[in-house]
Amino acid sequence: MKIPDIIIAIDGYSSTGKSTLAKKIARKFGFLYLDSGALYRGVTLFAQEEGFINRISVIDPTLKEALKSLDLHFDAEGKLCMGARCIEPQIRSMEVSAQVSPIAAVPYVREWVDEMLHEFGRRGRIVMDGRDIGTAVFPDAQLKIFMTASEEVRARRRYDELVAKGENPLLEEVVKNLRERDYIDSHRETAPLRRAEDAFELDNSDMSFEEELAWVQGLIQGKFGIL
Ligand code: DC
Repeated sequence: MKIPDIIIAIDGYSSTGKSTLAKKIARKFGFLYLDSGALYRGVTLFAQEEGFINRISVIDPTLKEALKSLDLHFDAEGKLCMGARCIEPQIRSMEVSAQVSPIAAVPYVREWVDEMLHEFGRRGRIVMDGRDIGTAVFPDAQLKIFMTASEEVRARRRYDELVAKGENPLLEEVVKNLRERDYIDSHRETAPLRRAEDAFELDNSDMSFEEELAWVQGLIQGKFGIL
């Protein structure tokens, strides 16, 4: 059966499992998966390494000009690269997580990232996850999902992820970071995190991944007639 040329937008709070779900759906339907948060994380790493952001997250406005020469792209495995360097491990660190929300609140940073996202969107057949995909980047996306989960469940997931990567985080630090990011992401002026009116809400606090997947497949089947 021909799969329609659609954009699936998955937005929601930090550590709700957006990327795991988005990747799985993309694989199942042969779509491209795009992690928009990785680009904000890449810009943050660049700003940190090049000294455009200080310890208290004051951002030097010359970052705007410097972005013109920043080369961020995904390799064949979907990992983020800065020039010739794969930066996937660095962008997932607590250091980057701690400063990504202030960077993502800057309008010119959002414009820079949005330009890349629109370029990908032109190809269609894409699953993109983030905070404003269904509200601002692709308001006409054919399927929008908004993910939530309790803070406790999200913090535990994030903590386990960091431990699996060999980091040694404090649970309180992880909770603090999630709270701060969610607050900044949903209170910024430009494209704040919120549920699009036509998004389906998925609260996966008490769901297994299989149940989540079945829920989404039900939506896709109902809307587009594909399994
Ligand atoms: O999904 P993530 O945790 O990797 O995203 C990192 C940060 O990037 C998140 O705190 C907010 C920001 N972000 C955003 O503002 N808009 C998006 N579309 C994706 C991410």
